[in-house]
Amino acid sequence: MSALLSLNNGLKMPQVGLGCWKIPNDVAPEMIYGAIKAGYRLFDGAMDYGNEKEVGEGIRKAIADGLVKREELFVVSKLWNSFHHPSNVKPALEHVLKLYGLDYLDLFYVHFPIAQKFVPFDKKYPPNFYCGEEGWAFEDVPLIETWRALEALVDEGLIKSIGISNFSGALIQDLLRGARIKPVALQIEHHPYLVQEKLIEYTQAEKIVVVAYSSFGPQSFLELNNPNALGSVNLFEHETITKIASSHGQSAAAVLLRWATQRGLAIIPKSSKIERLSGNLHTNDFDLTEEEIKSISSLDRGLRFNDPWEWNKIPTFV
Ligand SMILES: NC(=O)c1ccc[n+]([C@@H]2O[C@H](COP(=O)([O-])OP(=O)(O)OC[C@H]3O[C@@H](n4cnc5c(N)ncnc54)[C@H](OP(=O)(O)O)[C@@H]3O)[C@@H](O)[C@H]2O)c1
Repeated sequence: MSALLSLNNGLKMPQVGLGCWKIPNDVAPEMIYGAIKAGYRLFDGAMDYGNEKEVGEGIRKAIADGLVKREELFVVSKLWNSFHHPSNVKPALEHVLKLYGLDYLDLFYVHFPIAQKFVPFDKKYPPNFYCGEEGWAFEDVPLIETWRALEALVDEGLIKSIGISNFSGALIQDLLRGARIKPVALQIEHHPYLVQEKLIEYTQAEKIVVVAYSSFGPQSFLELNNPNALGSVNLFEHETITKIASSHGQSAAAVLLRWATQRGLAIIPKSSKIERLSGNLHTNDFDLTEEEIKSISSLDRGLRFNDPWEWNKIPTFV
């Protein structure tokens, strides 16, 4: 089990969870079951990952076998861009719950601050970037309207908390001016090549937990042939990281994760290899020095691997 972080709504969230993006559907039930056995309690899913049914199967089998109770788990999903219209938010959540086979979520994020044209579930699910036969199209809905619909889901007890993902400081500031229910967490790309120190400082000062995704930097994006990832030094082989790792008798992966958790961030490393689960979960067993933290942070190059500008020149981070 990992440490628990306090959320601004009084609930607790595990500091370490399992990222579910790209866990293949055929191994997902077994992976999730194995992860629960290994001590994972948080599962970071999303409508966009296309494996909610299989992730849910693993969760439900673990509950049925008495490994864990539902209330001991922290199950997460993310509202995809195609479902931002207030009239689509509840049906989207109901779709997620049906796929998971659960009756509530612990946390439902807005995956991106981008509203795409609605695509019916039976037309294409997950819709990904598909917006209909005409090609890319936005939905005319401002974020606060999506937010009000998410707040209603909290009131109904269908989700315990709301989160935001891939939001800039300016958008968070604006959302906080109008939100009745504050986001509990901001999920962002975060690794030594993209540190985002000011965004983290602002968000943590607002008592919103920062959750790091893609903690291993380019690694997750190599299989997608992402040019920025292909052109970067692999962080597992970066001299700064490997030196620190060997001085602590730890792996490079453990150092990358500890660098985040020691600064108060939550992490959700993904693995499809059962033998890596335990190591990724137990990264708080050693401490980095302040100097080591600084030297890792100094690798910052503002380098993103996940940027909507690359999808269709969408100015999310410009
Ligand atoms: N909100 C968003 O927009 C967003 C975007 C991206 C990701 N996420 C979330 O964040 C999670 C994590 O990010 P990510 O999946 O992009 O990348 P990640 O966790 O940084 O990296 C995953 C990659 O690292 C490998 N790996 C895992 N543990 C390892 C270890 N101990 N040693 C060596 N290699 C290891 C995995 O391979 P194996 O599978 O073979 O072990 C996989 O190739 C996602 O699964 C998803 O839940 C959210």
